[in-house]
Amino acid sequence: MKETTTEILFPKAVIERRVGELAAQISRDYAGKDLLIVGILNGAFVFMADLIRALNVPCTVDFVRMASYGAGSVSSGEVLIRKDLETPVAGRDILIVEDIVDTGFTLSRLLEILRERRPASLKVCAFLDKQARRRVPFVADYVGFPIPDAFVVGYGLDYNEQFRFFPDVRVLRDIV
Ligand code: PRP
Repeated sequence: MKETTTEILFPKAVIERRVGELAAQISRDYAGKDLLIVGILNGAFVFMADLIRALNVPCTVDFVRMASYGAGSVSSGEVLIRKDLETPVAGRDILIVEDIVDTGFTLSRLLEILRERRPASLKVCAFLDKQARRRVPFVADYVGFPIPDAFVVGYGLDYNEQFRFFPDVRVLRDIV
């Protein structure tokens, strides 16, 4: 593999400020509700950890892991749950937390699955939104930053499981 270089897209301070804004909005919207935050592994764990600590409302947390199938890097749109929630969700106010919306397949499918379990409400908070890559219509209820069609890493996002630890979001260059 050719050596990769990275260029900062969203510095740590900018992320911190935006996460604080999202948390304030979510805290207002969920005041007095029975909030269950559902993170999608692995990418969402960093964003979710910062987001819940900035909330002013109580919440509980759980996680799912999704698996998508397709040839090479081209997704077929077939998405399954590989690790399910451990919490019953009927009657709960659920906020799904995701690191990035790309084609939209993952979140569309997860929403379908969770709707069948009759939560009181079901919304999505995505840290990054790459609308140019959408293959199915999908609009998140809360978005950190819209981004262009570039390969981004850091703040939980990976390339071949690398770079999740960067405290900022970076564009990856020179991938071979
Ligand atoms: C990434 C990302 C989302 C999904 C978005 O997960 O974290 O879950 O892809 O893509 P989509 O909108 O095209 O469905 P990935 O499968 O890379 O796993 P990871 O979270 O462990 O990095």
